[in-house]
Amino acid sequence: MGYLTPRRLLVFYFMALFMSLIYVIYSFASWCPNSFKEMNMRFPNDGDVNELQIRDKMIYEKNELLKLLQSRFQKVETNLRRLYPEVASEILEKDSNPNDLPYIYAITPTYTRPVQKAELIRLSQTFLHVRNFHWIVVEDSDRKTKLVENLLEHSGLEFTHLNVKTPDAWKLAPKDPNWLKPRGVLQRNLGLTWIRENLKKGANKGVLYFADDDNTYDLQIFEEMRGTKKVSVWPVGLVGKLRYESPIVVNGKVTGWHTYWMPERDFALDMAGFAINIELLFDKPLVQFEYEVKRGYQETTLLRGFVTKEELEPLADNCRKVLVWHTRTEKADLRNEEKLKKYGKPPSDLTIEV
Ligand code: UGA
Ligand code: MN
Repeated sequence: MGYLTPRRLLVFYFMALFMSLIYVIYSFASWCPNSFKEMNMRFPNDGDVNELQIRDKMIYEKNELLKLLQSRFQKVETNLRRLYPEVASEILEKDSNPNDLPYIYAITPTYTRPVQKAELIRLSQTFLHVRNFHWIVVEDSDRKTKLVENLLEHSGLEFTHLNVKTPDAWKLAPKDPNWLKPRGVLQRNLGLTWIRENLKKGANKGVLYFADDDNTYDLQIFEEMRGTKKVSVWPVGLVGKLRYESPIVVNGKVTGWHTYWMPERDFALDMAGFAINIELLFDKPLVQFEYEVKRGYQETTLLRGFVTKEELEPLADNCRKVLVWHTRTEKADLRNEEKLKKYGKPPSDLTIEV
């Protein structure tokens, strides 16, 4: 039994998977015409047409089989990352060559509240499906919390854990409307600094994305943004009290903004609606978010430093698809904890992490 370590089992699994792929490719080759010469010399007659139909059907079937194998492989990869995070990357790197795939660096500001763990678990388990992904989590606090630290350690993701506290003057009071003060400013800036200090222009290829912890992300948006040359943009669902906000695209170019609120802004879009090639961070080393800007101008302040509206790259089917949603999570209502105490009953066990 000692010989059957999880790691060996997995290596064996991948070998079997690899061999079945070889088999598929081999059988595909065996019914291709033997040479181009043979192909050029023959003209189709009735028999050939029949044969072609059979071949079409075979191609279709092999294609379906390939799709099945791909989706199985994706599942094994996800489970591997989740169950054996410490060896997953090593095994997977041997299997495929993702070296030329640009990285996605996602910056997520986050803060302690009852729903935090649920938010971060949901996000991390989405991100597990994304290849070449580095999660930069920045806690809005004086020190790193155990909750976030443990969560990241067990996430199976490549990550960087940072923290910086929002000054009291910029913190929303419980009764304040949420548009009064911007959130995540210092946290996102710290993420930008980390990229500028720890990555190198040219050596590290990738794009930066601001992934707030309460949004919902379709995996497709990550594959779309991966190819960003400067700054790419797309619609965001359920934001600005509209079904969606979106860049307006005419002949492949962004000409304006579909938004009720301040469409006159240079970049009238939500934080979740754009990605930036990290090269720009090195070319413009001073560009970052600022507190001292008009309300609603955080995105515009940053993007103005990097591009013009004409340079924006619309994604998601020319901005006709919603692939990210500004789903704000309802605050947890824990009032009955107090009531339990009041009636002499034990409240929930505080040593149980939620
Ligand atoms: C909207 C936008 O979608 C945000 O990108 C923008 O930062 C925010 O408004 C703003 O006006 O500043 P909204 O859902 O209202 O988003 O904001 P939150 O999701 O509450 O906050 C944005 C991010 O900052 C989240 O990742 C959140 O965890 C984090 N945050 C929030 C902190 O780090 N500290 C806080 O005190 C509050
Ligand atoms: Mn939000």
